Amino acid sequence: MKKTLALALAVVMSLGLLAGCGGKETKDPANNGGSSSGGSSQSQQGGGSDASDPTIPEGGTVGVCIYKFDDAFMTTYRNSLQEILESKGYKVTVVDGNNDQAKQNEQINTFITQKVDALIINPVMTSAADQIIDTVKNAGIPTVLINREPTAEQMSAYDKLVYVGCNAAQSGTFQGELILETANQGDINGDGVINYIMIQGDPENIDAQLRTEYSVKALTDAGKEVKQLNLTRGDWDRNRGQEIAANDLAQFGDQIEVIFCNNDDMAIGALQAIKQAGRTVNKDIYLVGVDALAAALEEVKNGNMTGTVLNDAVGQATAAVAEMEKLLGGATYASGEQSVYVDYVKVTPENVGDFMK
Ligand code: BGC
Repeated sequence: MKKTLALALAVVMSLGLLAGCGGKETKDPANNGGSSSGGSSQSQQGGGSDASDPTIPEGGTVGVCIYKFDDAFMTTYRNSLQEILESKGYKVTVVDGNNDQAKQNEQINTFITQKVDALIINPVMTSAADQIIDTVKNAGIPTVLINREPTAEQMSAYDKLVYVGCNAAQSGTFQGELILETANQGDINGDGVINYIMIQGDPENIDAQLRTEYSVKALTDAGKEVKQLNLTRGDWDRNRGQEIAANDLAQFGDQIEVIFCNNDDMAIGALQAIKQAGRTVNKDIYLVGVDALAAALEEVKNGNMTGTVLNDAVGQATAAVAEMEKLLGGATYASGEQSVYVDYVKVTPENVGDFMK
């Protein structure tokens, strides 16, 4: 019974995904900065072959590896994954990699020894993708990679492997648009140049690279002159965001018109520093993040953040489970069609209420 139900759900979800995008075209995230319209639909560039002889295990076991539990966004994501998987009757074990790739490798090996039916892995380091893919391929375990995207070439080594995530360029573009939509288009002192600092996530991560690039590109594409006063890695961390913003505010003072943060946790840290420096968001400085964490939505609503971008944890968790079920049903993925993207959505003071629970 459960088997039939799970299959029906998997089929309905895959049909829904395909209907939402109308094709299997593969996009290169680096060449697609997104549009300003946003939307909560999912787009799919993968899809897998037909799961004609599905064998979804009764009470199947799933091992979930998270790069570290102490990450605000990944906490929402993993809770959502666990909830969805358990509601479908899977036995789920979620493990904390503690930001240590060697530790995560051991965890993957342990899951393999335990003969889990499927793996969902948020790699600690994108550079470890080859090794991870090799390991799961040798064990023959269907695997969904999440949040840290390997290259299409790396993924092509294993046809029972799919990546679920977002097109990070789109989130960067939305951040730039949030600044362009302000009263003075980011140029608070009216000197014709937008002076900004960039607080970056982990630079090894493509999300950090593309958000850094595309947020500024949206400004220059709109014909704006920009000046980067500083760029510092904050490793996605709130305390680092605060420290970096405090240092930069001390060094550059009123010159800073915009603070771009690659994620909300660092933006919330930066906001503390902004307040301590006696500056006021949306009056004498702009501040944007990505993720739409509950705390950031609150700050956007109260006018303490200029805006953020929804990084849809629930949407990605839902898509990850749907892809896992396709793999369990026997689907395989052709090279170049192994990435499934969920849309980002721009969050402004006008629409923030739509995202608050
Ligand atoms: C999120 C960050 C998170 C990172 C973890 C990004 O997509 O925006 O908040 O720290 O993923 O890899």
